[in-house]
Amino acid sequence: VAELPAFSSRAEAAEADRLDPLARYRDEFLSREGGPVYLDGNSLGRQPRATAGAVSGLLDEWARDLVAGWERWVELPGAVGDRVGRLLGAAPGQVVVSDSTTVNLYKLAVAAVDARADRPVIVGDANDFPTVRYVLQGIAAAHGRRLRLIDSGPAEGAEAAAIAGAVADDVGLVCLSGVNYRSGAVADVPAVSALAHDAGALTLWDLSHAAGAVPVQLDASGADLAVGCGYKYLNGGPGAPSWLYVRAAMQASLRQPIWGWWGQQDQFAMGGAYDPVPGVGRFLAGTPAVAGIVALDAGISPLLSAGMPAVWAKTRRLVGLLAGRAEELLTPLGARSASPSDPARRGGHFSISHPHAWAATRALIDRGLVVADFRAPDVMRLAPVALYTSYVEAWDAIDRIASVLADPSVGAFVAKRRVT
Ligand SMILES: Cc1ncc(COP(=O)(O)O)c(C=O)c1O
Repeated sequence: VAELPAFSSRAEAAEADRLDPLARYRDEFLSREGGPVYLDGNSLGRQPRATAGAVSGLLDEWARDLVAGWERWVELPGAVGDRVGRLLGAAPGQVVVSDSTTVNLYKLAVAAVDARADRPVIVGDANDFPTVRYVLQGIAAAHGRRLRLIDSGPAEGAEAAAIAGAVADDVGLVCLSGVNYRSGAVADVPAVSALAHDAGALTLWDLSHAAGAVPVQLDASGADLAVGCGYKYLNGGPGAPSWLYVRAAMQASLRQPIWGWWGQQDQFAMGGAYDPVPGVGRFLAGTPAVAGIVALDAGISPLLSAGMPAVWAKTRRLVGLLAGRAEELLTPLGARSASPSDPARRGGHFSISHPHAWAATRALIDRGLVVADFRAPDVMRLAPVALYTSYVEAWDAIDRIASVLADPSVGAFVAKRRVT
């Protein structure tokens, strides 16, 4: 990936905004004029203008159709799943939307572990998002497996050599994140999947910080299984349902641990024994949260319209702008990059570490300057979103962060917090 030319002035950033082919999408999201620069779209995406109408349409259907509405709603996990799949390079029939990411991760990880019953080891990443590590710990404890954690390093991400060293013929499942939640480091999904398959293991990817920001080609990548959040770059709103992907060729051979009626053949026959549908529907469990799926559908529409290549092209430029200006303005104030040094390994967000990161993140929010987020112990994540963050906002955000890091009262606040 070629390195992008750096922005050298705010005027240049303004010119890039003027020429931005995605600029028109900014108005499809609600924002407050003169509000802080929002760099937290990887925690919770902004609300699309269309969401209220979509949810209100569902309320009308509920009022009008009552239980008959289920004739349509029953199709939503698969129909919206297919639309999410289009963003992820997955052909129809491999993605469903329901439940939380944690629950979907559990369902798929147990299915994979059971399918490799003779292999006692699960490979994970010591620096992965807590829920991923906890779910794997729980499965290892309950199913008599061992967890082998690679230490990917807090900024640079997992080296192929470290993963290769951990994956041997005792491994049944390799479960990693496509983009690290703290550093934004991007994993080489095709290379790791090939490595795992050579050893006879299955792969499960948490793509929460990739979906809707960085390019993912699930079918082409060789990944077996994947999950991700609906409320980050997919703009589904707080607690939006998660999506899960199971490669078509594997669906019939995998069994998930929650034997619910939504995965059952002829669901409304109320049959005696559990006999799951052959397709991806077998990874559903209970009644899906329909309002959440409708909101998620509204959230992904602008992404489908803009197309992931354009989204990624702008994301890279925004992240490059943040990284370049952070180096210039924040390094002299004691900040360090907490993202990969190689731009080609950076995903949709850029992180800095600083001893006062917690107090600075708070001060930026309290003063209405920038909404970023803090990740323990000392990282501030900056997540621009191609559909609604402008280049000028990214430029200004670093100035504002610099002003807060240079403010002695912020450091004093840290000292006070430690004492109390
Ligand atoms: C990588 C990753 N996985 C999972 C989750 C959360 O999962 P859940 O929606 O089940 O809380 C997050 C939340 O930020 C995350 O960053």
